Parts: sequence; C-alpha cells; structure tokens
Amino acid sequence: MRILSIETSCDETGVSIIEGSGTKEGHIMLLGNALASQVDLHAQYGGVFPAMAKRAHAEKFVPLLVEALGQAGMLIKKHREVLLPEEKEVIVALCVREPELGAHFMEFFAAYEKPALDTIAVTTGPGLEPALWVGVNAAKVLSALWNVPLMPINHMEGHVLVTLLEKVLANPQKEFALGRIQFPALALLVSGGHTELVHVHDYSTYEKIGSTRDDAVGEAFDKVARMLGLPYPGGPTVSKLAAAFRATGTPNPFTLPRPMLHSGDYDFSYSGIKTAVLYTIRDLTNNFERIPTDEEKMAIACAFEDAAIEVLVTKTMRAVKEFTMHTLIVGGGVAGNTYLRAQLTEAVQTQAPHTTLLFPETWLATDNSVMIAIAAYVRSVYGNGETTTIDTITANGNLSITHGGFRKEV
Ligand code: KG4
Ligand code: ZN
Repeated sequence: MRILSIETSCDETGVSIIEGSGTKEGHIMLLGNALASQVDLHAQYGGVFPAMAKRAHAEKFVPLLVEALGQAGMLIKKHREVLLPEEKEVIVALCVREPELGAHFMEFFAAYEKPALDTIAVTTGPGLEPALWVGVNAAKVLSALWNVPLMPINHMEGHVLVTLLEKVLANPQKEFALGRIQFPALALLVSGGHTELVHVHDYSTYEKIGSTRDDAVGEAFDKVARMLGLPYPGGPTVSKLAAAFRATGTPNPFTLPRPMLHSGDYDFSYSGIKTAVLYTIRDLTNNFERIPTDEEKMAIACAFEDAAIEVLVTKTMRAVKEFTMHTLIVGGGVAGNTYLRAQLTEAVQTQAPHTTLLFPETWLATDNSVMIAIAAYVRSVYGNGETTTIDTITANGNLSITHGGFRKEV
C-alpha cells in the first residue's frame, strides 16, 4: 500500500511517500521524502512563534509535495493545464485560513494528475494548533480532490513507531524492514514539548505512567543553550560542548541538582535544573558582568547534560524493571542525544539485559513526516487501518498519546 504523509506540528514541514508490502514482516520503501526546517526563521527569536510557523508551513507545503511526488516518480503532468470550477470551490472552501496554500493548490491541481495512493496520513496533534491546521487542511484538500481516505496520526505515536524501521544496509535511507515490538513495552518520549514515560500495551494502547510537571527536557536544553549564548535549537550544541568537556577528563567544578530522582513516581521536573544553571552563571560572572568563557560554557553544558540525562535514565530503568518491560523505545528529538543513547545502552546491558532497546535512526529522531507514514502503516498492518472523513478530522494541540490517532479526541 502507498501512503502519503504530512507533518506540520511544530517547525518542520514534511511530506513523505512510502510503499509498504508484505504483511506483518513488512518491507517498506521510502519513495519520496521532502522536509523543510524553519529553524533559521525561529532562531533569531530563540523559539517557535505559532503564527510565523503557520505561514511558513502554508508557503512550503505544495513545493514539498511536488518534491516528494517527483522523487517517487508520481508527479504526472496533465496534457493541458485545467482546474475545474468544482475543484477550485473545494480548495477555496478548505483553505479559507491559509490563502497562500490555496493559491499554490490551484496551480498544483491545474498542472498535475492524481497519483496512485491508498491513504493520506496527517499529524492531527499534539503540537501548535495553527501549524497543525495547515497540514490537516492540506490533507483535506488532497483527500477530497483525489478521493483518497484520510488517516489522522498522533505525532508522539509517530516518534514511537518510527523506531521499528530497520534499515536495509544496501539502501540505507530508502529501504527498510519493519521490526516488531515485544510487549509489554515502555516508551520514553523526549522532545521539545514532551517528557513522558508511556506503557505500550499493544500497537494501539498507550498508558502514560509519568510525565514532566513543568518543562520538557528538550525545552530545558534549548533554554540552557540560550543562557549560554548558543543558537536555537540548543540540544545538539549543548550536547556537543558537553561531550568536548567530558573528553578532557577534567573534574567538573559545577554540579547541578537532579530533581525528582527519588520521588518514587515516574514524573520529571526540568525547570529546577534550568534555574540552577541560571544561578550558576550568575554567581560565576559576578551577576552577569561578563559572559562565561568557552571553557566555562563547556563545563556548565556538561553539568547540565549529566543531570538531565541521569534523571531520565534512572527513572526509565526503574519502570523497565518494575513492569518487566520486554522492549524499551526511545522517541523524540532528544532521542538523538549521543550521551542519552550511550547511558541508556549501558544501563539496559547491565540492569535489564533481556530488554530490547530501540532508538530511531538519528536522522529520524527529530520531527519528520516519515514517522507519520510509518505510524499509519503500522496501524494498517496491526489494526484495522481506520480512516476518517474530511468533515470529522480535526487538529488538536493537546492530543494525548493515550488517545492515539483514532480514539475520540479530547
Ligand atoms: O521531536 P522534536 O524534533 O520536536 C518536538 O516535537 O518538540 O524535538 C526537538 C527538541 C528540541 O528541544 C531540541 O533541542 C531537542 O529536541 N534535541 C536535542 C538533540 N537534538 C534535538 N536535545 C538534546 N540532544 C540532542 N542531540
Ligand atoms: Zn516531535
């Protein structure tokens, strides 16, 4: 089956096309994959602005659609450019709030034939609602004019299920086998908006057992980066500095608290570490009279990463052992963090050697639309692949993974 997927929940616009074959031992070809990042746009403000994100998604969507279809060999020019009045009517009606998207769609539908697709999968939440709506409205237009069913996908479920991709070495970024999850499984979801431990009972039943009470861990990385004068998004840069400091072998003059390490539950808190970083910088620089030296930045980044990751690893391992999890899945942007990968790998080897540890490919850890296609495919293979209609699909910024893409959205 062929799935076209759309992701616009935050600051990445993505369109992918996959072809899945076989049944449960699925074989997946990534036929097309186009991704545009808004990082440069938001970097100057140090964070994502929903209204700007929405406009950028609306401008980028159709060019990315054309790129992805082109890569897949599915971009077929019409003999004669023509847009039927009823097509124009649908586009206008569905793009009332995104006129630039509507204008692009008119040119697109006038120029290109309908491609052969079975499903259109789109992220319906969680995320920034104005941004999500661009993807949902784009999906509605495609579904209505191509007469292809729509599948709503939970972004966090995408982060979980993309870890099932096993690359085929001869064709590493295009061809994959679809692995299986041995249940029960635990998912540690770590991104700019989420820090959650989720008990995965089966492919569609998720139970949240803990989450952050304030900031998400990725958000803390971003805020610490900002305090150190490093660019947005801060995760990769903070991590690089931390690794450089660790490599020197020098004892770290700074230590930071590990909030809720022994709280007895599975919740997290990251705002305290962030504030401790601020006080550390304040005391070091005589009340911000100077900026920290490069060496000091490296040491602070390392102290922060040590504290942030130790809490994640300790609480995750406690849940793995308590519930005798057969699989541990790590998903979300922070799953790309090298130190987290190393620490968790070691912890699983020593404390739960029979648990399988799944990470996403590094290039699929941060937001992308491949994960949305994979979630849709897994839903089709292991579930009944329920689809929805353009009248009922809706974006929901607070959509919880416990509601999946199919349950009633709250
Ligand atoms: O999943 P994602 O792309 O977007 C959300 O859904 O939030 O995650 C982005 C977050 C950002 O906060 C970014 O700083 C963080 O993931 N991140 C990292 C790393 N790569 C991305 N944090 C720590 N280490 C990394 N290597
Ligand atoms: Zn994400």
